[in-house]
Amino acid sequence: MYRPLAALLLATAPVALHAQTPTTASSPDGSITLTVSTNNDHRAQYSITRKGKLLIAPSSLGFILTDGVNMTRGWTITGADTGSSDTTWEQPWGERRYVRDHYNEITVHFRQSKDQGERLMDVHFRLFDHGVGFRYEIPKQAAFTTMRIADELTEFDIVGKGTAWWITGGEWNRYEQVYQKTPIDAVSTAHTPITMRLEDGTHLSFHEAALVDYSAMWLKRAEGQKFRSTLSPSSQGARVTRDLPFATPWRTIRIGDKAADLVENDIDLNLNEPNKLGDVSWFRPQKYIGIWWGMIRGDWTWAEGPRHGATTERAKQYIDFAARNGFGGVLIEGWDKGWNGDWLGHGQDFSYTQATPDFDLKAIAAYAAKKGVGLIGHHETGGDIRNYESQLEDAMKLYASLGVHSVKTGYVADAGGIQAPCGADPAKICMEFHDGQRQVQHHLRVVQVAAQYHIAIDAHEPVKDTGLRRTYPNWIDREGARGMEYNAWGQFANSPSHEPTLVYTRLLSGPMDFTPGILSLEGANHAPLASTLAKQLGLYLAIYSPIQMAADFIENLEAHPKELAFIRQVPADWAESHLIAGEVGDYAIFARKDRAGPDWYVGGVNDANARDVDLKLDFLDPGKTYTATIYKDGEGATYLTEARHTIAYETRKVKQGDSIKLWLAPGGGAAIRLAPGR
Ligand code: NOJ
Ligand code: CA
Repeated sequence: MYRPLAALLLATAPVALHAQTPTTASSPDGSITLTVSTNNDHRAQYSITRKGKLLIAPSSLGFILTDGVNMTRGWTITGADTGSSDTTWEQPWGERRYVRDHYNEITVHFRQSKDQGERLMDVHFRLFDHGVGFRYEIPKQAAFTTMRIADELTEFDIVGKGTAWWITGGEWNRYEQVYQKTPIDAVSTAHTPITMRLEDGTHLSFHEAALVDYSAMWLKRAEGQKFRSTLSPSSQGARVTRDLPFATPWRTIRIGDKAADLVENDIDLNLNEPNKLGDVSWFRPQKYIGIWWGMIRGDWTWAEGPRHGATTERAKQYIDFAARNGFGGVLIEGWDKGWNGDWLGHGQDFSYTQATPDFDLKAIAAYAAKKGVGLIGHHETGGDIRNYESQLEDAMKLYASLGVHSVKTGYVADAGGIQAPCGADPAKICMEFHDGQRQVQHHLRVVQVAAQYHIAIDAHEPVKDTGLRRTYPNWIDREGARGMEYNAWGQFANSPSHEPTLVYTRLLSGPMDFTPGILSLEGANHAPLASTLAKQLGLYLAIYSPIQMAADFIENLEAHPKELAFIRQVPADWAESHLIAGEVGDYAIFARKDRAGPDWYVGGVNDANARDVDLKLDFLDPGKTYTATIYKDGEGATYLTEARHTIAYETRKVKQGDSIKLWLAPGGGAAIRLAPGR
């Protein structure tokens, strides 16, 4: 029904167009149509129609610069190149093994008039069945050689009224905020991904892909439902400085009729370049435990002293527990010198190679190796990348020599508090944002150096994920949202709707080291979590990460043998993943198939409203009987009272076409293992 317009030119050769001819292209199924044009002011603009209905009204494209004439007006379309592609590629690890990349594309060439500087700009659009991506490609040209971008002025003028789920761009706490749910026309300045549901049911999510050597895009509401990009600031005046030619990150819009169309959507990964590292089998998806929750809660310290968490003795105890229970890794934080005093935002003291006297790093690494357990290293920087970059090679070399294949990094500092080296004077510091061009460069440098040493990176207080794991599959994970740690610091610190919101917002961008598995359901001073026990298991299905923590103290894990058995079994690497039930901010239930075997897992998380779900097991192999081991909210369970610990277990045989009915408690969840036979 939605056939590509005849105007989609499938020739690959450039086509000369009359100056103001609108240029169009459609998605492979014809449902999404793009129109690129110039308006009466000679501004470059695009609009998007879906199923015959205008979705994005004509929206401007362009830049303001810190020098010379701006790249906002005087544009003429001089031609366009078109093409299409349908390929499938394989992920080394992830939510699904195979990813289809099917699109039509058009690159529109613009030239500015003489009085506006005669600059050239190409805008490259890719149209998928469930979304659109576009980026600016600034060719080499006579008019200028370096582009100093004061701001990027890409607009998104959303036509239909609706609701938005978002966090504020530029806030001191970076991405670690509670999501807001407001009418679209009440958003201020938002980080991406920002997710929207229009009154007609259309689901949208705006983000970016392949953020390399550029500043992150925030979306600032200009008026009504019109948003305009604004780039994360830089100490250098211009928010981005690039020599020509270069391409910006892709601006992406996921589009669908239902929540699953946003979740089962790989356009951001597809818009990243293929794997540049080759074989990364030295990184194995795994579950891990750590000397961590005790510091987060304040029982232990990162700093040296009587309550120091990272001691040789405790490390061995955790390694023993990991070995006994099949955990692949043990994270140990606070093992290195530099945590004494106020380390928050004071990263100049951190050593990345010297251990504290009560922590015998070499002996512990040898002990872990003997027990078949991997250590997960830790580099907290306090935001001081000058100090970290000066030790980076030595730090990675040391871990590599000890057989460490994953390192968690951290950048605890307020937004704008990254301390970067600056110019020739080694004493000079420039203050940068966690998502500005300088820090974007820093993260990639860390990932590239780490790759040389066969080390994978899990960045906390990171720049947002834009799908770069496709290109650098050792960039396995990051935080970049309000994680479990907040639950240590106050009653119901993460509300029941937090995780069912993350699934449709932050998690669209990529894996998160959320650190589930607080089976005691309590933080410091017995502060309760807004979660039932079953929800802690459901988190392993709702939140994807190739390294999944069981975050509680090992005593608390041991006190829950049935739940521990589930955590031991649940994979961290999947052949397939499907959202089988859910609505943005309300609940999310996934079915995922183990990449290493025939088992399926089903489960997820609920908000504060109890609900019944009827889960159709259509995905199972035909003709096979499966044993379903079900962990669900027990009768009367609710996050609000001690009944949060009430869990029920059930085992039954099921086959394709059956369904499992579940009651999800307020703040509840569920987890199911489906194993053939047995
Ligand atoms: C904040 C991180 O989110 C947390 O996981 C880590 O333990 C601390 N910083 C210390 O690095
Ligand atoms: Ca954090």
